[in-house]
Amino acid sequence: MKRLIFFAIAALSVTTILSNIASADTTREDALDYRISVMTVLRGHIGAASKIVRGLVADDGYLAAHAEGIAAAATELSRIFPEGSDVGESESLPLIWEEPEAFADAISKSKEAATAFVTATQSGDRAAIGKAFRNLGGSCRGCHDQYRVKN
Ligand code: HEC
Repeated sequence: MKRLIFFAIAALSVTTILSNIASADTTREDALDYRISVMTVLRGHIGAASKIVRGLVADDGYLAAHAEGIAAAATELSRIFPEGSDVGESESLPLIWEEPEAFADAISKSKEAATAFVTATQSGDRAAIGKAFRNLGGSCRGCHDQYRVKN
């Protein structure tokens, strides 16, 4: 059993090394999959945080952890939209690459809102937490309304 685990880890690190070498020419499909994964991370943390913010689940120190998770994933927003990655089922609108400065502003807004939410969760002030959370959600929606296909 130990041996099996060893080989599994060894195989995993070879894969990791190979993928690091290949990362210079990420395919459009992989770029899209990666973006969806990061967005899914954001949704997971927001969904969990929302339950705690609304008092439906006990905090026990985890609200701050979710806020930090959101802030960490939000730092990636500027690198997950490589040009040409609006392939297949992508819901990214061409406007993203047509107005890069406005899109960068939408990213900054969300990153700042995520940082402010981390600070609020550390304060323990419920009103400040609620306000920062709404502002964060608004920053996700703001970008989606403008740059994502409407369903
Ligand atoms: C700067 C713009 C921007 C910001 C900010 C942003 N998103 Fe997105 N998001 C998008 C775009 C564009 C798509 C569509 C991606 C695609 O399909 O290519 C998307 C897709 C998604 C999806 C759908 C993933 C799927 O399964 O198809 C979820 C969920 C999501 N975002 C959650 C969030 C959350 C939560 C936040 C805020 C914490 C957030 N997003 C912030 C632009 C943004």
